[in-house]
Amino acid sequence: MSINILVTGGAGFIGSHTCVALIEAGLTPVVIDNLCNADAYALARIAQVADSRQPVAFWRGDVRDGALLDKIFATHPVHAVVHFAGLKSVGESVAHPIGYYDCNVQGSLSLVSAMQRAGVHRLIFSSSATVYGQPDRSPVAETAALRPCSPYGQSKLFVERLLGDLAHADARWRVASLRYFNPAGAHASGLLGERTAGAPNNLVPVLCRAAASRSESLTVHGGDYPTPDGTCIRDYVHVMDVAEGHLAALRHLDASPGASTFNLGVGRGTSVLELLGAFGRACDTEIRHTIGPRRVGDAAAYWADVELMRRTTGWTARRTIADICSDAWRWQQTLSRQAVVAARSTATAL
Ligand code: NAD
Ligand code: UD1
Repeated sequence: MSINILVTGGAGFIGSHTCVALIEAGLTPVVIDNLCNADAYALARIAQVADSRQPVAFWRGDVRDGALLDKIFATHPVHAVVHFAGLKSVGESVAHPIGYYDCNVQGSLSLVSAMQRAGVHRLIFSSSATVYGQPDRSPVAETAALRPCSPYGQSKLFVERLLGDLAHADARWRVASLRYFNPAGAHASGLLGERTAGAPNNLVPVLCRAAASRSESLTVHGGDYPTPDGTCIRDYVHVMDVAEGHLAALRHLDASPGASTFNLGVGRGTSVLELLGAFGRACDTEIRHTIGPRRVGDAAAYWADVELMRRTTGWTARRTIADICSDAWRWQQTLSRQAVVAARSTATAL
């Protein structure tokens, strides 16, 4: 009998890679996604990448739709839920806080209410290192001060607290909030990766775009930080390592009731210029760049303390910065080929 895992936001970047990891581990993902930041492409690719004959069960809809969730739980016996669905842009959340709280907090409330009705009490929640705000020191442990600086970060912290209260009130709940640092890269096949609507803001998609265009120059946001090369330092963690972290967390839930919180990172920092150099080597192109002013709100340097996750679940990130760059570049080439095919078919139609 298959063990179903409901994956909210499973058509998105981290969700689609996690579906691959779930299938490879012998579990069966059931996806709900409203496709507000994804399309059906990833869903079609998951089974192919995971070498599975079964298409992924997909429900198009919103996690705020309680009736739809009831229908999904009535159709599939669900063992656990992995909750990725949400909005994730810090800047957008500052401009549109109501939309962010509605989707991220109300969406989570709707989900746990439906889980309660269905008698499903195992949940992994996608939180973010953004709950730490500007950390005082690195590596950042789970016990560090929580000072989110945006509605997006606040929404993640609200949900973490909601889940903590739930587990406190009812011993059947087993929840893990995973605070991702900087997930990046793509599946090694080059068939699955991150799609950004419009111009990307995050560093790895910006690098992909600059390398693909060969003429576009990347702006390094600040070269005067108190770091060895003057640029910001982050903990970039390969998206397939993040995906596998969810398997480790699911196994942990089977053994441990209550609520827990884990950092998901590599435990090492990489500067913007170091990443730029590594990406240039991966695609054998020098990335044109200029040093611009600092970006408002950026912390100089932080990386994760990953000991708790390692000690508790046995998980550690296995892939390197070079893997992140070469896999992201392979994915970028897939995107570029798709763009050429789309342009040709538009030209033919005209
Ligand atoms: P993503 O946008 O690629 O995936 C989120 C998916 O959720 C999308 O497919 C979107 O269509 C769907 N979705 C959004 N709102 C929905 C709703 N109300 N109902 C149903 N589906 C909905 O983002 P991602 O990078 O895969 O991130 C996944 C989760 O991880 C998010 O919650 C995000 O906040 C969190 N996170 C991401 C990062 C990162 O760097 N990517 C870092 C920290 C935390
Ligand atoms: C941002 C979000 C964080 C989210 C993460 C997802 C903010 C303040 N934080 O983190 O909540 O979880 O994305 O991955 O928005 N950089 C450049 N040039 C560019 C783009 C980025 O120099 O064109 C630099 C940035 O200044 C930063 C580093 O690259 O120092 C990483 O940036 P980014 O990928 O946007 O991630 P974060 O800012 O760490």
